[in-house]
Amino acid sequence: MAGLLSNLRNAVITGFVLAFVVYVLSAFLFHGTINLMSAPFWWYPVRWMHVLSGIVWIGLLYYFNLVQVPLMPKIPDDQKPAISKVIAPEALWWFRWGAMSTLFFGLWLAFLNDYLIAALTLGAAEGFSDASHTLIGIGMWLGIVMWFNVWFVIWPNQQRALNIENRFPDLTKDQRASHGRTAMLFSRTNTVLSLPMLLCMIGASHYGFG
Ligand code: HEM
Repeated sequence: MAGLLSNLRNAVITGFVLAFVVYVLSAFLFHGTINLMSAPFWWYPVRWMHVLSGIVWIGLLYYFNLVQVPLMPKIPDDQKPAISKVIAPEALWWFRWGAMSTLFFGLWLAFLNDYLIAALTLGAAEGFSDASHTLIGIGMWLGIVMWFNVWFVIWPNQQRALNIENRFPDLTKDQRASHGRTAMLFSRTNTVLSLPMLLCMIGASHYGFG
């Protein structure tokens, strides 16, 4: 067991295998069969992949905002490269691909749920007849804006601020600081938006107004 857990790749594969076993067992137990052609077969794992990706993305967003950025000034200058050259570039890889995967599975989920257009038009396409479509639509647009910020503002600015993969070696210290500040402000914007976004995500099918 310790051998399995000390290898990250094997530990992650084990988690996926366990999830698959639970999924297949519960399908047989409660439905007696698995129908690959039915929407519900896909709906459940797509929702799972959506939330899993969302945890990776928003988990790292909160790590940046609650841990890394506030503690950076307390780290002595000669030790800062451990964060900026080693940890941050790796965290940013998971961060932006987590965002991409969340968006991909989120849109797929809305499609499987049969309300992609209704939600993206905030319910207007169906005359605002279903509050949950308006609610999930607001959440989806907040998520899409956040995804855009990650890929087209935070990532390009962080590449310049940290000179990731040595793509921008000629920038001055002031220019790097300015890119770092832009990335930080948009990352903070995403932290703000994440709260109403998550409320909409869970509110769509667990409407809590009694
Ligand atoms: C990026 C754009 C996003 C899109 C297009 C999207 C889309 C969706 C859709 C269509 C649903 C199904 C709602 C329902 O009818 O129950 C959903 C649920 C959910 N989403 Fe998102 N989402 C996005 C971002 C996020 C993010 C960043 C998170 C963060 C963790 C997240 C977490 C959740 C959760 C927890 C649920 C509820 C699952 C449940 O109630 O079973 N979503 N999302």
